[in-house]
Parts: sequence; C-alpha cells; structure tokens
Amino acid sequence: MVYTEVNRTSNRSPKRRNHLLICLCVVLMAIVILSVTLGLTLGTSSSSSLKATFTNRCQTYLKDNGATTSQNDCEKIWESFKQAFVGRNPCDVPPDAYDSLLHKVSHDPACNRMLFWSKTKEIVHAFTGKMSCYLTLEDTLLGFTLDGLNWCGKNESQETFTTGCPDCDNNSFRAFWNGASAAFAASACGDASVMLNGSIDMPFNSKSIFGSVEVKHFNSSIMNGLTVLLVTKETDT
Ligand SMILES: *[C@@H]1O[C@H](CO)[C@@H](O)[C@H](O)[C@H]1NC(C)=O
Ligand SMILES: *[C@@H]1O[C@H](CO)[C@@H](O)[C@H](O)[C@H]1NC(C)=O
Ligand SMILES: *[C@@H]1O[C@H](CO)[C@@H](O)[C@H](O)[C@H]1NC(C)=O
Ligand SMILES: *[C@@H]1O[C@H](CO)[C@@H](O)[C@H](O)[C@H]1NC(C)=O
Repeated sequence: MVYTEVNRTSNRSPKRRNHLLICLCVVLMAIVILSVTLGLTLGTSSSSSLKATFTNRCQTYLKDNGATTSQNDCEKIWESFKQAFVGRNPCDVPPDAYDSLLHKVSHDPACNRMLFWSKTKEIVHAFTGKMSCYLTLEDTLLGFTLDGLNWCGKNESQETFTTGCPDCDNNSFRAFWNGASAAFAASACGDASVMLNGSIDMPFNSKSIFGSVEVKHFNSSIMNGLTVLLVTKETDT
C-alpha cells in the first residue's frame, strides 16, 4: 500500500481546533446517517455475505489506495482472517489468534501521521476524512475492512456467523481489535496524536483500548511524542 505523504504542518492550535470542530459537526451528521444505513444492511446479512462484505471492502480499499502488489490479495487475506476464529468456541478466541493475519497485512510506516482515539470515533473519522494526512487504525486495510462488523465461528463448524455472536471477554471481535490496535500502536513512529473526549469524566480511561492496549505498545525507540487533542462540544464551554 502506498500512502502519499502530504507536506502539511501539523500545528494544532486551539483556535484551529475550534474552527475544525464547527465543520466536523456537519460531517458528523452525515456519518451518523451512513452508519445507520450500514447497520441496517449488516443486521440482515447472512454468514455467506460476511465474505462478500470483507472482500468488497478490501478491494475498495486497495483500489482507493492505488495498491498494485499481489501480496494483498483479498481472497488470501479473507482465508487468513477466517482461520483465526472458524471452528472455535466464540468465547475462547486467544489474544494472538490474528497475529499471522496482522503480520501478513502490515501497513507501511506512517511516521508523524498516526492518530489514536478513544470515545471520539465519529469525530475522529470526520477529521481524518478531511485531513488525509492523518492515519487511524480504521484507515488501514484491515481496520477499514472490519470497521463496524461483527463476526464469530462455532465449535466444530466451518461456517462464519454475523448474528448470534456472544459478547464475551475473549470473543473473535475483541481479539481482533485488541491485536490490531496493539500492532498499530507498536508501529507508531515520530510524533503521534490521540483524540480524547473532553465531555466525559475520564477522557483517558486505563480500561479503554487506548489506555489498556495502545499506550502499552508504543515503542519509545521509534516514537518521539504524543500530542493529546481533547475534543469538547462548543456548548460545553
Ligand atoms: C463524547 O462522549 C459522549 C458520551 O459518550 C458522546 O455523546 C459524544 O459524542 C462524545 N464526543 C465526541 C466528540 O465524540
Ligand atoms: C467447544 O469446544 C470446547 C473445547 O474444544 C469444549 O470444551 C466445549 O464443550 C465445546 N462447546 C460446545 C458448545 O460444543
Ligand atoms: C481470556 O483470555 C485470557 C488470556 O488467554 C485469559 O487469561 C482469560 O482467563 C480469558 N477470559 C475468559 C473470560 O475466558
Ligand atoms: C522498537 O523499535 C525498534 C526499532 O525498530 C525495534 O528494534 C524493537 O524491536 C521495537 N521494540 C518492540 C518492543 O517492539
């Protein structure tokens, strides 16, 4: 995958942030509508369409990012993804289940452009949509492909399921996002940023994925620092 490097200064002054917030609120509404539409489609999807959704999104991503390498063949990525949870008890997917997938589909280093988030998902993606110089986990191939999906397997079954997946600690969904977040954080180089939610009691929560997984995987020998962007509503001030 090739990410074009945009030469833009990443000076985020409070003034500029306010300005951004105003435009982002508009974009936010569009995104809410989009995710509602998406939710409805996914709710009715059968297990065979998980593969279709996966490969469609994967191909869209590769096309949009001008990828030419065959190593990112979406069918192969699907097979590798599937192996992590198919045939497994849906509540007993080990944390390292997706390691071979994550290793296979690593993204190019995006020094000084990586953006983490916690409880600011919608606004952060409205932000990265406008400022393509920033890269979140959902802007990587796997993050983009699996964002908003749910999936699981069953004991002694070769099928994949998108409904009836139990919400337990070690499910296929959590194992993936924890593993992907850890790998994404471990690759953070230069100056990274995190967008936290200033409207809640604990903008930094040590139990969040950011607090419990990502910060623990930052690598100080390749990362310089972390800029914290605290997002508040205009009406909060
Ligand atoms: C902050 O969190 C609150 C409560 O979860 C949520 O309603 C709000 O949209 C969040 N703010 C942003 C900017 O995401
Ligand atoms: C699933 O497999 C595990 C271990 O292989 C077994 O202990 C468990 O009873 C199985 N569960 C079901 C519902 O078959
Ligand atoms: C989840 O997996 C971890 C690590 O393998 C294990 O220590 C923990 O007991 C598991 N939790 C549950 C509820 O199965
Ligand atoms: C941190 O980055 C250095 C340089 O790339 C690498 O050699 C080292 O293995 C990394 N450390 C961890 C814990 O991944």
